[in-house]
This record gives sequence, structure tokens and C-alpha cells, in this order.
Amino acid sequence: MATNITYHPSTVTYPERTSLRKQKGFTLWFTGLSASGKSTIANALEQTLLKRGLAAYRLDGDNIRFGLNKDLGFSERDRNENIRRIAEVALLFADSCTIAITSFISPYRSDRDAARALHASPPSHPTQSLPFLEIYVHVPIEVAEARDPKGLYKKARTGEIKEFTGVSAPYEEPVDAEVVVRSGEESVEEAVGRIVGVLEERGLLSFEGEEGKEGGT
Ligand code: ADX
Repeated sequence: MATNITYHPSTVTYPERTSLRKQKGFTLWFTGLSASGKSTIANALEQTLLKRGLAAYRLDGDNIRFGLNKDLGFSERDRNENIRRIAEVALLFADSCTIAITSFISPYRSDRDAARALHASPPSHPTQSLPFLEIYVHVPIEVAEARDPKGLYKKARTGEIKEFTGVSAPYEEPVDAEVVVRSGEESVEEAVGRIVGVLEERGLLSFEGEEGKEGGT
């Protein structure tokens, strides 16, 4: 633990930054089993948002484990730390007025709740919350296991991979996700369209200056 450190707040407030950057920053937190379709939908969503001229960036479980989190495995403790770090990184992206799209199994409800709480009261400006939306990519385990694109479920069943989510490690389903995608029943395009619709409804894809212009002021 570091001691003798002092927080240096930015002179630019979040509303000022939003107005200067002409974009709201927030976090879209995807959660779901391995092979649920999280990364595919997150990828398509990122592309859609970028094509609309918005800054969006995806943080993906497998990818982040090649770099920032390469020291972590899949024990409960390591997964807690994985998610804690990603919540902090997503917060930085969101605070910089980028749309952070995270795509991690994030199997523990308490870890996801902690990520949400961090956005509700960021250390840099505790009274100015940053929007955080949980997107649960729901798929029955049998469907994920039948897809098994990386052959991991098979290895988990034979015991070659230990502590595999849904087989030998828990997945705690979200109870209050803002969006639930049923990837076995809904196409990627439909899911992306629905998520974008929710973001629009909440006014997250426009910023105050723009809204004012639209309102004729
Ligand atoms: S999390 O549980 O800590 O959120 P994360 O999303 O980073 O997991 O990584 C999950 C990915 O790692 C899976 O999509 C899969 O490709 C791979 N993986 C390897 N071992 C495991 C395991 N034991 N349990 C789950 N996923 C695993």
C-alpha cells in the first residue's frame, strides 16, 4: 500500500470535458458465460458507435489477459482482481469521455456491483456519477457448451481445465441488468440495435450542447 500520496483533481470538470469533447463517457459492462456471444456483440456495438463518430473502445477478457492482467489466473481471487482492475480502467475511459465497452465473464455479482459503485462515485469527482449499464448476454449453458468455439468446455468436462465457469466454477446471474440479450434467440444486429436504442433513450449518445441546438436554443 502506498502512503504519502495526494490526489490532484483535474481543473476541468466532467460537464466541461463533455462539452469540450462533445461526447458523454460511460461504461457498458457485458457479462455472461464463455461462448455466450459477449465479445461478438461488444465488437459489433463498438463498430456501430465508431461509425456514428463516437469514441468507443472495447476491453476484452481474453485480450486483456495477454497484457495488463497477464499475471492473473482463474481462481476466485484472481477473477476479483481482474474485474477490479478493469472497472478502474473502464472508469478512466468513461471519465475521458469515451464509451468503455467491457467484455468479461465477470461471474461474481459483488465484483460487478463494485464496478457499478465505482462509477456511481468516482474518486476524481465523487458527486458526479458516470453512467454504468450492465448488459447480460444470457445463454443456457447447454447452448454455450454446444458452441464451444475454443474447445474449452470439452477440456473443462474432462478436468483438463480446472475452475471453468459454468462447469466447475460459479456464474452468478445479474438481477438488475439494464439490458438482457438472449444470444440464442436474437441476432447480433438485433442485439446491437436494441442496445443503441437504450442508449439513445437515456440521452447518452448526445451531449447537452447538441441537445440545446436540437431544441432551437
Ligand atoms: S473472468 O471470469 O475473470 O471475468 P475473463 O472474461 O477475464 O474471465 O476470461 C474468460 C476467458 O478466458 C474465456 O472466454 C476463455 O476463453 C478463457 N478461459 C480460460 N480458462 C478459463 C476458466 N477456467 N474459466 C473461464 N474462462 C476461461
